[in-house]
Amino acid sequence: MSKSVKILSFESSCDDTSVAVLEASGEADVRILGLSTQSQNEVHEKFGGIVPELASRAHLQNLLPCLQKALTEARVDLSSIDIIAATSQPGLIGSLLVGHSAAKTLSFVLGKAFISVNHLEGHIYSVFLEERPKFPFLSLVVSGGHTSLYKVNSFHFYEILGQSLDDAAGEAFDKGAKLLGLGFPGGAELESLASSGDPSFYSFGKVQVPGFHFSFSGLKSEFYRLVQKEKGSLRRADAAASYQRAILSHIEVQLRKALAATQIPRLCIVGGVARNKKLRELIGNLKEEGVLKDFFAPSPFLCTDNAAMIGFVAYQRSRIGEFSSLDSDVASTVRPSREEIRREKKA
Ligand code: KG4
Ligand code: ZN
Repeated sequence: MSKSVKILSFESSCDDTSVAVLEASGEADVRILGLSTQSQNEVHEKFGGIVPELASRAHLQNLLPCLQKALTEARVDLSSIDIIAATSQPGLIGSLLVGHSAAKTLSFVLGKAFISVNHLEGHIYSVFLEERPKFPFLSLVVSGGHTSLYKVNSFHFYEILGQSLDDAAGEAFDKGAKLLGLGFPGGAELESLASSGDPSFYSFGKVQVPGFHFSFSGLKSEFYRLVQKEKGSLRRADAAASYQRAILSHIEVQLRKALAATQIPRLCIVGGVARNKKLRELIGNLKEEGVLKDFFAPSPFLCTDNAAMIGFVAYQRSRIGEFSSLDSDVASTVRPSREEIRREKKA
């Protein structure tokens, strides 16, 4: 058995502060020794959306308590950590800076290796914290900030097949929830209201987009117009159920196209919206139909932003000797790392 390594990872790209301690060995044998995640929902709820400056300040308050909790749960002290990792992109700059700076500082002080991680890669590979899907597989990242479909070939190579041309699916859920007077972020509340509604009561137009892309802004506007038109007579549960069905039907149509075109019968769904039970049910049905052979979705606590998924990607990077320098930066959008550029040049 190969020697195990301990990884301390930080995630602070948006509005969740999270710190994890992992123990990893072999190709992908990973154990979460400690994980502490602090959401900021209470901070942003009254504004109905994330306020970037408040998010950064809340990370400053939450980060060290999360570190303390993760280390205590893991029963390890900092001196036994081998690798320190943090999310560097994409995300809110002020938020990213908090976790990234803390991680680099610890790496410098403790003299341990440092690895910057792309948040979306974190989501893509988050399934490996619990399962071992066979490569290649399709991965649908559905969160508050992204809706993208990837073909994942290995731990280091993946290609984007499609992405949202406008809003993310989570944004559509959140906007719908806001219009219905629910809390923020409202995806889970909308789902729970929808569970007592009739999904065929209100009808929505069919979303038409090229290839394997997604679009949710039209549905959002349609829902806005419906709420305005119906006002007090709106049947809220039926509206939530119909709107949820319209969002999920669009996702289903695009997934069916991609599964047929790629002939890859394995699919993972990850990110906050992957917590949605109707979405899981719908993909479960694809499996029953035989369109899919394998379907993986992480446990709900690993769908939402968390540092364990960042630690897993860092482990894979360390296995091929890709470490980051202490002058590495953060970025609001995804840009290739120096290592990736070097790799592309070589290819
Ligand atoms: O992955 P995540 O925690 O953060 C981002 O990286 O965005 O995803 C948060 C998103 C929010 O839009 C939230 O409303 C949505 O995931 N979400 C849900 C559910 N639970 C969380 N959407 C639909 N149904 C749910 N049960
Ligand atoms: Zn995320």
